Amino acid sequence: MKPTRRQVLGGLAASTALLALPARAVGMTPLTAQVADMQLLPEEYGRTKIWGYGGTMPGPEIRVAQGSRVQRRLINELPQATSIHWHGIRINNAMDGVSGLTQSAVEPGADFNYDFIAPDSGTYWYHAHNRSFEQVARGLYGALIVEEPSPPDVDAEDVLTLDDWLIDPATGQLDSNFEAPHDRSHAGRNGNFIATNGVSGLTKSARQNERRRLRIINAANARLFQLRLEGLEGWVVALDGMPLSKPEKFGESLVLGPAQRADVFVDVTAETGSSAYLLAILNGEALPQVRYNVTGQATKARRDMPNPLPGNSHQMVALDEATPLALNMEGGAMGGLRAATLNGKRMNFRQLVQEGQFWAFNGAIGMMENPPLAKLSRGENVRLKIRNDTAFPHAMHLHGMHFHEVMDDGRLGPLRDTTLLFGDETREIAFVADNPGQWLLHCHMLSHAASGMMTRIEVA
Ligand code: C2O
Ligand code: CU
Repeated sequence: MKPTRRQVLGGLAASTALLALPARAVGMTPLTAQVADMQLLPEEYGRTKIWGYGGTMPGPEIRVAQGSRVQRRLINELPQATSIHWHGIRINNAMDGVSGLTQSAVEPGADFNYDFIAPDSGTYWYHAHNRSFEQVARGLYGALIVEEPSPPDVDAEDVLTLDDWLIDPATGQLDSNFEAPHDRSHAGRNGNFIATNGVSGLTKSARQNERRRLRIINAANARLFQLRLEGLEGWVVALDGMPLSKPEKFGESLVLGPAQRADVFVDVTAETGSSAYLLAILNGEALPQVRYNVTGQATKARRDMPNPLPGNSHQMVALDEATPLALNMEGGAMGGLRAATLNGKRMNFRQLVQEGQFWAFNGAIGMMENPPLAKLSRGENVRLKIRNDTAFPHAMHLHGMHFHEVMDDGRLGPLRDTTLLFGDETREIAFVADNPGQWLLHCHMLSHAASGMMTRIEVA
């Protein structure tokens, strides 16, 4: 009889030091963060060096059914420590992937097992969360799709990851000044080469009258994408993965801040032989972000207006019982910030600039050096008034929980995980603090997060 594996290992262990071997997690698909190169730019520029999961940019799409378990072993083959954040997932805190808060960064050559449940359907993404301002700019991100229990009535689906790259035209390589003070103190690192899924001028074919689901992800470090449709009639059915209770007609344009997502159902109205477009408005000019060549007709007539996607179950926020919190965002160029507390020391703006810091939340800078913005009890209702007292837009992201934007008339707006505030704007968000742990709240303009716009919320 063949000896069992246990007997073999047991025999070995007796004679060697194998007992010290750590338990090997089975079923862990590797996700290797590595240096690679790709043909990002037109041929004549040659290949561009990137950092990517599995050596690709975007990284491999992760697609699971709602409620299922996601297991990935991050293997770090980069020259820098890293970690992965699963953006928008109401996750177990230990798996949130925030270096220095929920785990220590995974050193080069080391690995880390991520293992979590994806409770909500929707369009999410994963990205590096150590030196994000550099690592995300180098290409460390991918789409994370959680499918509805029954698929919606569409003919096709396109996952569209939008990004801009800051390229040195002399070398065709990424601009390596990831900590440029000008980017930090102004609108963040904005690129000069725009792509979708790593392809500039992405082109697909479509048929007239078909309905497509666009899952649009803004993976840029800082750029706001203002999107428009041409030859397509659209409805926004979800924002940041969370279904709208009623699909909303795609208006004149839709703005996505960094990290925000939109699920848009589009009906192809353009004629056979012509093209339809997802356009991005850049410096006042509408440029094709994605082009659909219409190669035939799917059906004679179009479908009726789409039904809402099935909702994810969230606890209702009780606004009248909610604990009021306030967050004042200050700083940046033309911001008039005079002083703030950094590492427990009061510093004037000149001193802060010398430390590479330009922004503050409630007069303080730093994720760990300061007390959390709030210590909440589990299940506590919260309303947080965020005041953008700066000259720049910011995309504020809360980890671990979804929030409602509170509308001007006091009603609860859509559920989101990232809210965009323009300069001088105030927005109230409301949520039930039902996920225990330490949760980051930061600007997703990654240069801003690295230069003062980061705090945390503690849920007991
Ligand atoms: Cu998508 Cu803390 O980030
Ligand atoms: Cu910002």
